[in-house]
Amino acid sequence: MSGRPHGSDVGPPAARAKLTAPRIADMKRRGEIIAAVTAYDFPTARLADEAGVDLLLVGDSLGTVVLGYETTLPVTVGDVLHHTRAVTRAKPAALVVADMPFLSYQVSPEQAVANAGRFVQEGGADAVKLEGGERVVPAIRRLVEIGIPVMGHLGLTPQSVLAFGGYKVQARGEADQERLVNEARMLQEAGCFSIVLEGIPSRLGGQVSRALEIPTIGIGAGSACDGQVLVSHDLLGFFLGRSPKFVRRYADVAGTVRDAMSRYVSDVKSRAFPSEEESY
Ligand code: KIV
Repeated sequence: MSGRPHGSDVGPPAARAKLTAPRIADMKRRGEIIAAVTAYDFPTARLADEAGVDLLLVGDSLGTVVLGYETTLPVTVGDVLHHTRAVTRAKPAALVVADMPFLSYQVSPEQAVANAGRFVQEGGADAVKLEGGERVVPAIRRLVEIGIPVMGHLGLTPQSVLAFGGYKVQARGEADQERLVNEARMLQEAGCFSIVLEGIPSRLGGQVSRALEIPTIGIGAGSACDGQVLVSHDLLGFFLGRSPKFVRRYADVAGTVRDAMSRYVSDVKSRAFPSEEESY
């Protein structure tokens, strides 16, 4: 039935100890590699958690892969909150990180506290992520001070797409590489428990990872990072456009959905569906 409670008939959440931000930070010291993925809904969160994912990111990438925007810039606090709630309802053992959207933390540290507080208090998030280096340090310090774990994000930060002039690999030059390493150190010093490194040369990904005590989680930043993250729709092949070079597709969900939908349409039109067994 269309209104049946899908969420309540899928069994209890997996019996894994809850991953906390300090536990994620500690994985680097223990030499454990961090497997992270984005999740925007209850079933994806539950299935990824069952598969042993360590960290679920409710990324603002939901704007492009779920809501159909061209960039992440139109995504609002309300959008991320809505999807964070769906993810935390899955009660995952994985750490849930809510991504702070454009203009939800850049105005002032107070604004960052008010919005991050909503993700934790109303969304049930375990931590938040925000993009940028030196300019966001005051906001990170305030959040950490009041007890909200923060993940940093450097390199090809998609909220700066207009300034970058497109989605281009960042920090190819020596000066930019030096700046990125310094900013990574600043984020660590400000209290971040980990940092996403996106769209940078692999060698730089390795250099930053060696320079920090906190883990780096790479996306298009090479294999030397302390963990990897992919957008779930990219790794599942549930995407209508082209995927970037760094994506490895583990499934062809778009193909499966297309095929299932066209067989359904054909069965309905030919009256092959529903059958006697599917009727009351
Ligand atoms: O929004 C997102 O999904 C992200 C990842 C790409 C790291 O920020």
